[in-house]
Amino acid sequence: MSWTRKHLLTLEELSLDEIEQIHLTAGAFKKILGRSVKKVPALRGKTIVNLFLEPSTRTRMAFDMAAKRLSADVISVDAASSSTTKGETLRDTAQNIEALNADMIVIRHAASGSPLYLSRILDIPVINAGDGAHEHPTQGLLDTFTMKERLGSLKGRKIVILGDILFSRVARSNIHALTKMGADVTLVGPATLVPHWFTDLGVKVSYDLRSALADAEVVMLLRIQHERQTSSHFPSLGEYTSMFGLNKTRASWLNPSAIIMHPGPINRGVEIDSELADGERSVILEQVTNGIAVRMAALYLCAGGQPEHVLGGDTQD
Ligand code: CP
Repeated sequence: MSWTRKHLLTLEELSLDEIEQIHLTAGAFKKILGRSVKKVPALRGKTIVNLFLEPSTRTRMAFDMAAKRLSADVISVDAASSSTTKGETLRDTAQNIEALNADMIVIRHAASGSPLYLSRILDIPVINAGDGAHEHPTQGLLDTFTMKERLGSLKGRKIVILGDILFSRVARSNIHALTKMGADVTLVGPATLVPHWFTDLGVKVSYDLRSALADAEVVMLLRIQHERQTSSHFPSLGEYTSMFGLNKTRASWLNPSAIIMHPGPINRGVEIDSELADGERSVILEQVTNGIAVRMAALYLCAGGQPEHVLGGDTQD
């Protein structure tokens, strides 16, 4: 087992072996996070810049915490406090961060492809924290990590992703990871938000919620991503909820042991009823917690670490 990648840009380009290396490394870090002393010196002396030019709660805080747990110095930059508001280009901002001797950049940006672009112009590792409607690789990794914790192997498992697939980077990253892991994935939602061409990615597409949810072992809800939609894709939010919102009746169609997932932020009463979001089948907050260990793994490996050093405990004082 050996990690050779400098950047983490997409799950589309990762092999199954690489996904498993990240999951194993994250599992080892999760054990460390359960100890009274949660910090390891693995990235001591390194500086990580979290460049978040789009809003974020979970991803940004999890990357901040992950870097700190690895003993790195971390600097967070957001759109409002950066000189991008004065007309500075992404290229100039990133090159200035590198000139300030940062060792790694974690970037969230509204433009698909911006992490790939930075990886081509910078010498330091680049990690994609969500680029437009393209990919959100660490979210896909933490989602599949959480599913594996709950279900074991995902091979042949029936997993439904429900909602605004078209504009979702989370859906794309999960599709790439889940298909490599052998899961049986069905996408469901209004036809305008779940185009049939997604079947080219090795998943099923359905517009019949009842048959899609029947016996599913995981349902992952996605919110409507208004910020990326330039026109209306359904008559009203109320109509969307009445046709595709997850409520108690619809949740009863799932496999009795099914788990309910959501990458957040959730819109209560739109794509999911509050009682389900807070109910015993929900693993939404487990996903958030697992996001720290998975991001520790991503930072550690892209900084040149190897899974066996964490699995063997070499990252400890
Ligand atoms: N899931 C996710 O990306 O949430 P944030 O936008 O809050 O980071």
